Amino acid sequence: MERGEFISKIGLGMLVACAGCGLASCGSKGNDPSPSLAPNPPPAGSGALFAANLNAELLNIGDSKVSDGVILVRIAAGNTAAAFTAVQISCTHQGGTIAFNTSQDRFICPLHGSEFSTAGAVLLGPAVLPLQEYKVVVADTTLTVSS
Ligand code: FES
Repeated sequence: MERGEFISKIGLGMLVACAGCGLASCGSKGNDPSPSLAPNPPPAGSGALFAANLNAELLNIGDSKVSDGVILVRIAAGNTAAAFTAVQISCTHQGGTIAFNTSQDRFICPLHGSEFSTAGAVLLGPAVLPLQEYKVVVADTTLTVSS
């Protein structure tokens, strides 16, 4: 076998190997589980979105309530606005449904691992945009989330 013929055959073999890799296991999404996509967040200026009764709901740190594309979480003791956070539930990367991780004190997206602070700032990508944060007001034992 001459040198040119050898290189030609090796090159063709490499091409076939790379094509198989691309189709089967190197980044293919064919084997990914079905993504859990969240609803779009309400736009700014929507007004009051939902309420919670603090006598019966969100009693413990880490407890959450989801409504209208927003996740409300108790992050500290006490019935003040600072003890809660409310952010959009859809990840800014590709719309995965984020969840609050109490031990790490942050929101984590299960699809690709983005992490966000309790105020919605990106702590770890691939997401690059923050979560929209919503206003929390506490009056006596009634909490209201609004945009
Ligand atoms: S959709 Fe959330 S990290 Fe990709």
